[in-house]
Amino acid sequence: MSTQLPLTGIHSYEHYVSDLARAEAFYTQKLGFKRIGAATSAASEIDGMERLVLAGGPQIHVILSKPIKDWSVAANYLKMHPEGIGFLNFRVSSVDQAVTYLKPRGASFLYTPQVRTDSHGTLKQVAIATALDDVNIRLIEDAGYRGFGPAFKLDQEPGSYTSPLGFINVDHFTCNVRTLQPLTAFYRDVLGFEKFWEIEFHTNDVNPNLPVGSGLYSDVYWHPASNIKFANNEPIAPHYRNSQIDIYCRDNRGSGVQHVAFRVNNIMNTVATMQHSGCNFLASTPSYYERMPARLQRSGFTGTIREDVKALAKQHILVDASAKGYLLQIFSHELARQFQDREAGPLFFEVIQREGDEGFGGGNFRALFETIEVDQIAMHKVAAKLPLELI
Ligand SMILES: [Fe+2]
Repeated sequence: MSTQLPLTGIHSYEHYVSDLARAEAFYTQKLGFKRIGAATSAASEIDGMERLVLAGGPQIHVILSKPIKDWSVAANYLKMHPEGIGFLNFRVSSVDQAVTYLKPRGASFLYTPQVRTDSHGTLKQVAIATALDDVNIRLIEDAGYRGFGPAFKLDQEPGSYTSPLGFINVDHFTCNVRTLQPLTAFYRDVLGFEKFWEIEFHTNDVNPNLPVGSGLYSDVYWHPASNIKFANNEPIAPHYRNSQIDIYCRDNRGSGVQHVAFRVNNIMNTVATMQHSGCNFLASTPSYYERMPARLQRSGFTGTIREDVKALAKQHILVDASAKGYLLQIFSHELARQFQDREAGPLFFEVIQREGDEGFGGGNFRALFETIEVDQIAMHKVAAKLPLELI
């Protein structure tokens, strides 16, 4: 029996959309992706979906899927949720070994292992349900396969695209749930992942006299051999209902993927290009940078930030650090706000540059919470006074 799930990396993720042209335009114009292929007409007929493959970097691929039949997987997802991510696709060295590992651990399979052979070779896959509502996981064995997937015809080889924004890979996926325990049990007991990091934050910790507030508990589970990481959030009291995490779950009509983080080597160049192309990011406040030296000192960081802090402030790039190093990160507005359409969903994107800090910006949670809440207040999501749900 395998001692761990034979994951080797991220293959892609699948984003279900009702407006394919809008989503493709966003990914290509704002995130530097490129369409490299599409589902064949035969596959579209069988799956009831129009699907595009977009590359965002050598190791970043997204499938955009729009329903063309009412019974399709995309249609069923979109009956339940606004647009969002419905499949996370991971590579495994062996589907059979993955099944052997997962079965006794209680995994729920969506189908038995499927093998397809075409002119690119042979690809084997299986899929499992998760504790994240309608988000599923595919496990793909494609070491002997030169294409992207049997359903797709590609104009360009997967892995051959260089991002004009310097996107390298997906650093992590972040998921929001109303209560973390079932999801934690899924990562730990089913997938065999290990706990990597955790944090609890509440605005009332900073000021207990606030009439409103918002908090979350967050943890990260990972698969050390492949470095696949899931960050996970749940709302906490007081003001559970005003937590951005509960608001996400209401907007998404269930739990799901809150953001995808793309890793880059030069975030200032990336953000300058993205801002030029009109991608909207959460703004940080001048006080965030004034408080930064004290925050970095508390983190145990003794090195120097190579970037010019004034220039970082101008671009609203956030800085966090640990004894091991620092990281720079920025978050986009959610797609619902980018498109001014609630049905575009509460998914957003992060850009992250790591300089030795393998954490998740714990020191930025307060700043991030403030900026997300400014956003949510702007969208009239946060109520100043909500009744407690007492009997
Ligand atoms: Fe993140």
